[in-house]
Amino acid sequence: MNINNCHNVDDFKKLARKRLPSPIFHYIDGAADDESTYKRNTESFEDCDLVPNVLAGVDNIDISTTVMGQKLSMPLFLSPVALQRLFHYQGERAVGRAAEKFGTMFGISSLGTVSIEEIGATINAPKIFQLYFHKDRGLTNSMIERCEENNFDCLALTVDTIVAGNRERDLVTGFTSPFNLTLKSLVSFATHPQWALRHFTSDKFELSQVKDYVSHGTNIATSVSNYINEMLDQTMNWDDAIAIRKKWKKGFCLKGIMSVEDAKKAVDIGADAIMLSNHGGRQLDGSRSPFDQLQEIVDAVGDKIDVICDGGIRRGTHILKALSLGAKACSGGRLYLYALAAGGQRGVEKTLNNLKNEIERDMKLMGCNTLSDLSRDNIRYRN
Ligand code: FNR
Ligand code: LAC
Repeated sequence: MNINNCHNVDDFKKLARKRLPSPIFHYIDGAADDESTYKRNTESFEDCDLVPNVLAGVDNIDISTTVMGQKLSMPLFLSPVALQRLFHYQGERAVGRAAEKFGTMFGISSLGTVSIEEIGATINAPKIFQLYFHKDRGLTNSMIERCEENNFDCLALTVDTIVAGNRERDLVTGFTSPFNLTLKSLVSFATHPQWALRHFTSDKFELSQVKDYVSHGTNIATSVSNYINEMLDQTMNWDDAIAIRKKWKKGFCLKGIMSVEDAKKAVDIGADAIMLSNHGGRQLDGSRSPFDQLQEIVDAVGDKIDVICDGGIRRGTHILKALSLGAKACSGGRLYLYALAAGGQRGVEKTLNNLKNEIERDMKLMGCNTLSDLSRDNIRYRN
């Protein structure tokens, strides 16, 4: 199996599973508790069906959209994700170049492994930085300032990770960053020599945005949940979000909003968008899926703010369904992470190409010329 035979996200997942040491695969693929929210995130799209119109002359369609003032060539962008150089030695470099090629936005995590400076200087795609609110305000502020200096377009403050989710797969595998050299991990390396060779012969692994402030995750192996619980500030509240909104003048969104009440507050504090998200099921298991919650949110704030449906997306039709309910765009993590692990930049390009082709084909089959032709009229729920 190689990336040319990967026709969908699931094919890439199978390939990623083969290519990665198992603790790394399970870090990507795993979620919280019983992973019921993780499963529901995708399954929720199956509760309704698309109803097409035909004879619409669809030879020349336009699938571009605008999110937080950024023009995207398609209504899908790449959510910010930590630790990418563990998944493939080129990490964010590969993802950024693929996003640039496809004219869509990509996210860089506070726990990213390529610096804000390098991304700013080398990647010419809309860039959204994901901010974790650290107890160390010097660090939190420095990340915002570095994004400003390096021409990032948007900032997303993650609000659903006030404590770490209970990722039981990581407890079983003993996943840490950087990778702990235990007997178990040495066996993993030995059985994945290609990954190990690339990982250990490329630039030293680092958490580029935070390394000057913390030793965790840079020199000392730590679990992601220890990092979150020790470094992030659990006092974070709306006043802090307001202060960050004031400090950051460009596109601003809250990532991990789920309730109507919070969505309205996001409007009040002057956010440009919300990412309706449960962090890919990695935080509060039992939380509602973004797609299930989408209508309520769009009805409350859809005319005032860009609503982004984040998580669970595996098919072009999922995106069409979310847009039909009023989302401005969708975003996802695993849909490109499996591909990154399976084949670096070429893998991410292939998955983006698959999804873009699906969106275009599905739009034509729906009889839609532009995304604004999608509406609730073309959705029916099953009883
Ligand atoms: C994430 N996500 C995430 N979110 C965030 O705000 N900061 C981060 O550092 C990370 N890191 C991260 C690592 C991994 C391995 C995954 C899978 C996810 C969440 C991410 O941005 C997005 O919300 C989810 O991935 C969406 O769900 P899907 O698309 O993966 O189903
Ligand atoms: C995760 C954190 C880093 O989901 O956001 O693993």
